[in-house]
Amino acid sequence: MIELNNAAFAWPDAPQSLSGMSFRLDAGEKVVLLGANGCGKSTLLKILDGLVFPTAGSYRYCGVDVNQVRMRDREWVRRFRSEVVLLFQQPDAMLFNPTVRDEIAYGPRKLGWTDVEQRVSYWASALRLQAVLDKPPFMLSGGEKQKVALASILVLDPKVILLDEPSASLDPRATGWLVDFLLDTGATVVVSTHDLAMAAEFGNRCLIVGEDQHIAYDGPLRQALADHRLLERVNLAHTHRHRHGASEHAHVYQHGSKAA
Ligand SMILES: Nc1ncnc2c1ncn2[C@@H]1O[C@H](COP(=O)(O)OP(=O)(O)O)[C@@H](O)[C@H]1O
Ligand SMILES: [Mg+2]
Repeated sequence: MIELNNAAFAWPDAPQSLSGMSFRLDAGEKVVLLGANGCGKSTLLKILDGLVFPTAGSYRYCGVDVNQVRMRDREWVRRFRSEVVLLFQQPDAMLFNPTVRDEIAYGPRKLGWTDVEQRVSYWASALRLQAVLDKPPFMLSGGEKQKVALASILVLDPKVILLDEPSASLDPRATGWLVDFLLDTGATVVVSTHDLAMAAEFGNRCLIVGEDQHIAYDGPLRQALADHRLLERVNLAHTHRHRHGASEHAHVYQHGSKAA
């Protein structure tokens, strides 16, 4: 369904951000994307969402090259945008409608769907947004904005759901809801996080982007989380020497938890 072939990417006026990325995702896979801050997780998700394009190599979605030329095909873009969705790390970038109701309804209206109201009320109730439906999104808290942004993409009933550090701003109840939703959905899911404590909740396959901007690991998530050497190498864990009275021993620190 998703195929990156030796893809590289560099932001203008910045050093190379990603290089030599190759992997395939099949329909329905649940993938956790791990990597230290700045290694390129958000950039990779933007490539998969067709917001930026590989500067070398290729990205194919359902066998079709996703590139600038393809993005001029309006019919294809319309389909792609309804099938592949991205929850941004910063939800403000996604919210531009006058009310929460319009925000959630925006995609379905653009697609000309006829059951927009029912869909909006279903997702507002799933994410407990009923009380703020008539408020402007900019007046909401960060966590509420994230929930509106989530509702506005899930309402499209997407086939590929890309989530950029969703647990960073969602409250525990919304995060729990999301974990359950992702377990049940048949969609392909890629969730980025640098929070190892949450990672195991979000999927079973793991892709790790190393600090050298290459894929450092692609395999079972449990195995990656148990491999302290790997986690240290990619700067997701750090061994810290530490004294208790006369004895000295090492602790492994991870983002979000202390493992040992
Ligand atoms: N819009 C942008 N313009 C220029 N450089 C960017 C932009 N977004 C990210 N970068 C750079 O690309 C690299 C990877 O960033 P990012 O993908 O955000 O990493 P992560 O999400 O893993 O923290 C960083 O060096 C970052 O500064
Ligand atoms: Mg990021």
